[in-house]
Amino acid sequence: MKKLLYIDSCIRGELSRTKKIATPIIEKLSERYEVETIVINDLELRPVQAEENRRRAGGVVSEEAISLANKIKNADRIVIAAPFWDMSIPAALKTFFELCSLFHVTFDSDDKTCYGLCKAENAMFITTRGMKIRTGEPLEQATPYLKALFWLWGIKGFEVVARENFDYLPQEEIEKEISSAIEEGIKIAETF
Ligand SMILES: Cc1cc2nc3c(=O)[nH]c(=O)nc-3n(C[C@H](O)[C@H](O)[C@H](O)COP(=O)(O)O)c2cc1C
Repeated sequence: MKKLLYIDSCIRGELSRTKKIATPIIEKLSERYEVETIVINDLELRPVQAEENRRRAGGVVSEEAISLANKIKNADRIVIAAPFWDMSIPAALKTFFELCSLFHVTFDSDDKTCYGLCKAENAMFITTRGMKIRTGEPLEQATPYLKALFWLWGIKGFEVVARENFDYLPQEEIEKEISSAIEEGIKIAETF
């Protein structure tokens, strides 16, 4: 069975509306993929700062970072669930990416530029936003960042399941949006 890496960055845990959308989509995908889940909250990561950067520049990378980077490198598919925070992704997820976006593991370089080393052909990003900001609008800075990072890693396919206005819609409408997002995600999952 092919491997799917699920990066659960739903910081509010069981309260998360993003997670409510992601869970049944992952369940559907588990029919075709062996799913490994990374829960960002559980990692309690520290951002890469001066000391870590110096170690890395000297070729010393933590076992944890190498192990996480290899999970990304070797996955056949990657799914990320994350809420829209400060017009982008939660910093904990960015920290995770900085730790495991590793030279010689997720990407490499020749004498001209960088190129990706990751196996996945396709990724899926599941998100909900507080304001009425749609995917592709200039104010929406989560999808462009993730697409660019995944491009660096050599992952070209990128599906987005997003719902917005969740901080302003009545609960009844939110429930409907969650159901339609699940439907959309399950449809994508059939050919993902
Ligand atoms: C720390 C924080 C930052 C947020 N920043 C934004 C933002 O910049 N723009 C926005 O539209 N919504 C923002 N929101 C609202 C969330 O995107 C929205 O409530 C989303 O549905 C939360 O997803 P969740 O239920 O999965 O946690 C923010 C919420 C939090 C807690």
